[in-house]
Amino acid sequence: MRAGRPPVSALALPTAALADGSVEVLHWWTSGGEARAVGELKAAFEAQGGTWIDSPIAGGGGDAAMTALRARVVAGNPPSAVQLKGPGIQEWAEQGALADVDDVAKAENWDAVLPPVLAAIMKYENKYVAAPVNIHRVDWIWANPAVLAKVGVTTMPTTWDEFNAIADKLKEAGITPLANGSDPWQDLTLWDVVALGVGGAEFYQKAIVQLDPAALTSDTMVKVFDQMRKMRGYVDEGFAGRSWDLATRMVMNGEAAFQIMGDWAKGEFAAAGKVPGTDYWCAPAPDQGGYILNSDSFVFFKVSGEDKVKGQKVLASLVMSPSFQETFNLAKGSIPARTDVALDKFDSCAVKSHEDLLASIGNNTLVPSLSQEMAIPRSYRGEFLDLVTQFYNTDMSSADAVKALAAGIERARAQ
Ligand code: GAL
Repeated sequence: MRAGRPPVSALALPTAALADGSVEVLHWWTSGGEARAVGELKAAFEAQGGTWIDSPIAGGGGDAAMTALRARVVAGNPPSAVQLKGPGIQEWAEQGALADVDDVAKAENWDAVLPPVLAAIMKYENKYVAAPVNIHRVDWIWANPAVLAKVGVTTMPTTWDEFNAIADKLKEAGITPLANGSDPWQDLTLWDVVALGVGGAEFYQKAIVQLDPAALTSDTMVKVFDQMRKMRGYVDEGFAGRSWDLATRMVMNGEAAFQIMGDWAKGEFAAAGKVPGTDYWCAPAPDQGGYILNSDSFVFFKVSGEDKVKGQKVLASLVMSPSFQETFNLAKGSIPARTDVALDKFDSCAVKSHEDLLASIGNNTLVPSLSQEMAIPRSYRGEFLDLVTQFYNTDMSSADAVKALAAGIERARAQ
């Protein structure tokens, strides 16, 4: 997919040089690595003569940003571009809230350079209403090798049994095995990864994407919660109020051995000048083949005023330009959404992400992320979110969790 190297000329900034236009961008990229990445976008937009109005809403995973967005739309004052993704794009489009940038997409032939799975998410009624900026993989384990060495561990776990054995050893040695924070979406991210790892891609598709009642109540689902219960035992007691990037910092500083998080965590390591393979390790979380897909995109809301409409088009073109996709993703920890950007400047984790992405597309084990809002509408995701967090923070049994989850999904379906 990414085999062809683009000629150097293709890496120049898009030609709409020195366009004015203004854009208000609502996003949730406020951690060290995230802010660095979005700063690249702001700088590039301003370098073309545009006016950037920054509307950051803190809160990893974007739940707070989505609440703010709804309030803005209800008030009749939407921002012109919003960091938003997955089925949420279709939901806003169905409400008539989005503007299309299809003229830009056609002129630049986006169809030819985007993986079809992403292009489909970006379109409504066959017109582009969004521009994807990256591909984030969710199912990663990050580790501090110096901490693992303290208990004689020299390689990353490749099965959950191995993971549990290492985590038990660390715990015995008085070391926190797993860094996690307290946001419900962080718990759901962990659960997402465990669900693919324990259940496999077919199970994930059936239970989480198709919401099939038999898969939702299967023994496999019980096993997913059993492993999740173990994970809860591996985190330290001080997790209340901890954001995901502080959890990454714990691994960086040797206060915990592992974090399970999407590769935006790599943006934090990169911002701190850490080098993969030396200062930290990355490995796909134990699975039976598979890849949990997350992709950030900018979605364009209907706004009036020539200046704003122009700003949207300039932003759309910029976001999709090969040079920008390279610069941005080097900072963000992800890989470009475009398939024609060479990965020469990217690290080994990014190369692995790309290889595994292709393999998962080839053998049909690519799954959209539940936790990162790529899989199902918010009303259904909300049921998973509430239940998984409740399970994580109480002593609910796996059997009870499975029953409550299935009931929650039925409730959402009935609404
Ligand atoms: C994800 C988003 C990533 C990263 C993360 C933590 O949903 O796709 O880009 O920012 O949240 O905030």
